[in-house]
Amino acid sequence: MVKDRRILLAVTGGIAAYKAVYLARRLVERGADLEVIMTESARQFVGEQTFAAVAGKPVTTDLFGTDRVSPHTELGRWAELIVVAPATAASLSKLAAGLSDDLLSATLLATAAPVLLAPAMHTEMWEHPATQRNVTQLIQDGHRLIGPAVGSLAGGDEGTGRMVEPEEIVKAIEAAFAGPLSGWRVLISAGGTREPIDPVRYVGNRSSGKMGYAIAESAAARGAEVLLVTSSHLPLPAGVESFPVETAEEMADQVWRLAHTVDVAVLAAAVADFRPVAQFDSKLRRADGIPELILEPTPDILAGVTQLDDRPFVVGFAAETGSLEGARRKVTDKGVDLLVANNVSDEGSGFGTDTNRVTIMRPDGSTDEWPLLGKRQVADRLWDLVLQIRQS
Ligand code: CTP
Repeated sequence: MVKDRRILLAVTGGIAAYKAVYLARRLVERGADLEVIMTESARQFVGEQTFAAVAGKPVTTDLFGTDRVSPHTELGRWAELIVVAPATAASLSKLAAGLSDDLLSATLLATAAPVLLAPAMHTEMWEHPATQRNVTQLIQDGHRLIGPAVGSLAGGDEGTGRMVEPEEIVKAIEAAFAGPLSGWRVLISAGGTREPIDPVRYVGNRSSGKMGYAIAESAAARGAEVLLVTSSHLPLPAGVESFPVETAEEMADQVWRLAHTVDVAVLAAAVADFRPVAQFDSKLRRADGIPELILEPTPDILAGVTQLDDRPFVVGFAAETGSLEGARRKVTDKGVDLLVANNVSDEGSGFGTDTNRVTIMRPDGSTDEWPLLGKRQVADRLWDLVLQIRQS
């Protein structure tokens, strides 16, 4: 899946640059968020306007004189994957040597993202010991190469050195994004629901949604298809499809509609347990006196999911204050496959923090206490555990 993935396509100067236009087109068709950079020699083969039209945004060609203050670091940090296609002998050589004297070479040095190289050159150049030495070095440095293929080359020559076809490169890009959860469809609920009292006020809770978003981000990074039912307004992680909701009722509708289509449901939302029976159409006025608010229970979304005939693997959350005894009861009462319990009054574990100290509880009564970790680390460990359980 390349949908919403931030891919930087770097085009260097070879005749195969024209095929990189098709590659850009395929990636855009699949929903990738594409940026293109071109070296000076690439522009001898294809005009930058061609790529700009396909990508739907301007192409970056220079380190200096652009709108960006520091294009190499900005693009290097932005990209989740960089594809150099075609990658000439010169571009391989610069990267192997760590040279940074133009936009492409500087960007490749400034990134922590994986780099996929699709070499294209004449056979003699590919087979030259210097190029082969560079290739060995690049592989050793952790870069991935695809090709070159055997076939017709520029000037009517035949041999090894042809850039692999754009479709093959797309497959390699998809494989690069495929992680241990690829093929899994997962549903995550996040945020605290808001139950309206009147058009201005609501019954709610302090949940920020950060834990649920970290779980969504981690699942997407591991290659899962991620559906996020959320009442939070945090920035959406790459590759995640969101279903915005506000109330427990709306969250229940979405979760129950989607739950039987997924492999795993992680219900991290802090759902309001009670809502006002009646909602006032206009703002309650102080002068009208103290209103009487009558509350009724909201649907138990989690229980609804575990009761499905074709239920997914279900991970529940329990936010407790004080002892985790209540959480232990929820494992069996709610019929979850795993429960993530935390004491929200613990330092570093409260709502809105970036860290969490959780206890994992299983239906067989076993528990694991995890140390204080960043929410993303908790999320990563949780997916590792779910993977381990589902594969055993
Ligand atoms: N949950 C839910 N629907 C609700 C309330 C909670 O699906 N109406 C889910 C939460 O998303 C969480 C789990 O149930 O995964 C436990 O939530 P929690 O608030 O700790 O438990 P409650 O069942 O509400 O019990 P209590 O508030 O009495 O502790």
